[in-house]
Amino acid sequence: MTKNSSTGVTKRFTSKGIFPYQMAFTLLIPLRNIFLSPNQLIKRLELKADSLVLEVGPGPGYFSLKVAGFLQHGKLVLADIQKEMLDLAQKRLDKKGIKNTEYYLCNGNKFAFSDNSFNRIFMVTVIGEVENKETYILEFYRMLKPDGILSVSELAGDPDKLKSNDIKTLCRNAGFKFYKIYGNEKNYTINFKK
Ligand SMILES: C[S@@+](CC[C@H](N)C(=O)[O-])C[C@H]1O[C@@H](n2cnc3c(N)ncnc32)[C@H](O)[C@@H]1O
Repeated sequence: MTKNSSTGVTKRFTSKGIFPYQMAFTLLIPLRNIFLSPNQLIKRLELKADSLVLEVGPGPGYFSLKVAGFLQHGKLVLADIQKEMLDLAQKRLDKKGIKNTEYYLCNGNKFAFSDNSFNRIFMVTVIGEVENKETYILEFYRMLKPDGILSVSELAGDPDKLKSNDIKTLCRNAGFKFYKIYGNEKNYTINFKK
């Protein structure tokens, strides 16, 4: 990596926009559990062992590992816009022998999954980075099963973080109904139903 490109990565790490995969290691620090732990997220998602789950923007898979492990009879689809992030996540999950997963490269617009495909769709510190937020939320509505849950978590320190009210507006505009909120405005998970 040249000096200029490493300066570029550092700049992208601290400013708004897509999180650089070169800094993915910072997303695997266990200290993150103070803000949101994978076990806490699993409870908030109201997961069942046979749930079909879509995680958008998994990065290197900090939450994916425990979520996929919980889904003994279900499946987790990891969908990221950076192939490098998917590769990192897959390496991490493969190492733990996790096989109930699928890896999907997003194009930033529509998803190639049928209507009513998933019981849960979730994102952690992702929505602020998504360029076509309205399109994505409409896609989530289309892909979520009628009794499913869309879950959005936002954490302190993320330069792209959105306020819970902004997420409520986005989701309501797409047809979702507010269901539950956990945490506080600094670190929260907000859930919606169809
Ligand atoms: C800050 S990281 C969070 C990763 C992971 N959710 C976590 O909390 O450890 C944001 C992730 O969202 C992905 N991302 C950004 N825009 C996206 C988009 N439009 N579609 C899918 N993934 C996207 C990035 O590539 C990155 O992996």
